Amino acid sequence: MAKRKSQLSMLDHSKAKVKLLEKYLEKYLNIISNDGFTSKINIFDLFCGEGIYENEGEGSPIAILKCLKDLHYINKAKNKNIPSIDLIFNDKDEFKIEKLKGIVEEKKLHENVFGKLSFRSKDYKNIIDNLSTYINSLKNEKAFIFIDPYGYKEIRASEIKKLLASKKSEILLFLPTQFMYRFDERGTPQALIEILEELVDMKDWKPSLSVYSFIEQFKDALKNYLGKDFFVDTFSIEKNEATVFCLFFFSSHIRGFEKMLETKWQIDDDEGKGWSYEKTGNLFSNFKTNLLEQKLITLLSTGNKVYNGIVYEYTLRSGFLPTHTVEIFNSLQTEGKLEVTTEKDEKVRKGAFYINYENYKSSPKKVYFKLK
Ligand SMILES: C[S@@+](CC[C@H](N)C(=O)[O-])C[C@H]1O[C@@H](n2cnc3c(N)ncnc32)[C@H](O)[C@@H]1O
Repeated sequence: MAKRKSQLSMLDHSKAKVKLLEKYLEKYLNIISNDGFTSKINIFDLFCGEGIYENEGEGSPIAILKCLKDLHYINKAKNKNIPSIDLIFNDKDEFKIEKLKGIVEEKKLHENVFGKLSFRSKDYKNIIDNLSTYINSLKNEKAFIFIDPYGYKEIRASEIKKLLASKKSEILLFLPTQFMYRFDERGTPQALIEILEELVDMKDWKPSLSVYSFIEQFKDALKNYLGKDFFVDTFSIEKNEATVFCLFFFSSHIRGFEKMLETKWQIDDDEGKGWSYEKTGNLFSNFKTNLLEQKLITLLSTGNKVYNGIVYEYTLRSGFLPTHTVEIFNSLQTEGKLEVTTEKDEKVRKGAFYINYENYKSSPKKVYFKLK
């Protein structure tokens, strides 16, 4: 048999990718399975690979299966029922799918009681339309889709949009941004134009000064393309100085988005912009330095009443967590620069800002903020 083109050893950047997937899924599954509303969760790993690499590295399907097993047994121990979780693993390469099936069986990674487990061996391009239709028909169900191609040539912004349309899904997409960016330095190649052509501000596209500004520009273009109802964030993974990959996260639900940001910040408490293997020579420093404080001051300087609900959403859309904003507001308040008032112009006790999901849902106009 001819030697198959395959990634035999799992590389460090792939481990970082799988770690983020795993940590996020843990949070996501916990919330969704206990929301009292969702009757089934559907997880799709569309470029799943073979499961375990020659160096024993565990790929995305194994991480997903382990999350599921843990979730099941943790809830069982608490006598809690959780919705069934259906898994669909797909890879164009039949050989890899067969290998993965064997591993799942041999290691007993799945039990029928968790939900349905299916394997497919199809080209992503041939399933994406049916998958979008399926997801858009879901009622009390949710979907999580992991898209992990080798390159970026197969991906289109319009496919992401279709998968998100019904607001039932979250997507994690892995892209080799460094390769895309390198092309961008020399002139945007056809494949990148194809991903981006539907993005509204492609005509304003500027060659980027660094891979990180490329990622920011690409993210902004995706945000504009998808519109206000959706949330987009990124997580960069630096393989080495010359190679940067990026996970793009898409959500239609602010709570799911917050969980993704929490995961990022948990993995890298630096600034949530990404994860570097070595903390020295940090390439993210350009993005740091009180970026959130500057943003919040701009937001509060418009002269309009800026309510707690607005600040919560603004914080997340900026890639930060409510705890960060609370820290900044505490400091502004202590310096006498921030006024917090209820709608009825009553004073509010010091340190109470109501910037969290619960208030966003139930009382997004509980208090408003003004700079003094
Ligand atoms: C980067 S690897 C996936 C790695 C895997 N997620 C993991 O964590 O180990 C990409 C996979 O996509 C598969 N693939 C490539 N083109 C595909 C396509 N058009 N449709 C579906 N799978 C494809 C390859 O066989 C390969 O296993």
